[in-house]
Amino acid sequence: MSLLALPSVRRIHGWLLEHHGDTLDADRLPAIAAELERLAADQVPGAVVELGCYQGAMALWMRTVLDTTGQQYRPVHVYDSFEGLPERGPHDPQLFPTGFLRATEEEVLALHDQWGLARPAVHCGWFADTLPSRLPDRIAFAYLDGDYYDSIRLSLAATVPRLAPGGALIVDDYADVEANPKAWNGLPGVKAACDDHFGAPSPMTVLFGTGDLAFGRYYRPAGR
Ligand SMILES: C[S@@+](CC[C@H](N)C(=O)[O-])C[C@H]1O[C@@H](n2cnc3c(N)ncnc32)[C@H](O)[C@@H]1O
Repeated sequence: MSLLALPSVRRIHGWLLEHHGDTLDADRLPAIAAELERLAADQVPGAVVELGCYQGAMALWMRTVLDTTGQQYRPVHVYDSFEGLPERGPHDPQLFPTGFLRATEEEVLALHDQWGLARPAVHCGWFADTLPSRLPDRIAFAYLDGDYYDSIRLSLAATVPRLAPGGALIVDDYADVEANPKAWNGLPGVKAACDDHFGAPSPMTVLFGTGDLAFGRYYRPAGR
């Protein structure tokens, strides 16, 4: 049964698309939901983490999906500077000003309270300071949404070794335009960071949507 057949899920889905269309869309939500549903089916152990949570919209969606798929026990941890984007590096385009996408921990918590959902564990600070010591030891799913080359490099270095067998991560804004010419390619530093982290041949696969979805996925095979 589709999760959207449940009125409570449909309400949150619609509200997120209406109020958080700057970071979420009708392609991203089902792609993330499918990953989280698979964790239950495959009995993958570990936490769910989001690196770059901004106002907590995707965190709210992940909590919603986990709770409606019998995974209330699975913790969600989110990470953000709450100072917005850092200075861009040489791989990153001059698209956003430094400090763009500033939010607060209180916004993230209030959003979950508003919907009566369990709050995530919020880790405030720059990835370089928080990730090495404040990630769970075992991660079932990670959503990497730090926008810039350095942020994604740090995110991969910290999460890949902690991925549980059968676990996966999705990198937002990963645009492989050869594989998917429709993908939004506004932040090329993201794919460059993945290419530099993994080397060739890349183990990343491309997810497709109905629009300009730019999602790359890394899966850690079970049994390794
Ligand atoms: C596109 S927003 C995240 C949107 C969120 N994932 C969602 O779906 O609603 C990117 C976030 O990454 C954070 N960020 C980027 N680089 C960071 C870094 N090096 N350390 C901490 N936060 C970072 C920014 O503060 C910003 O809130």
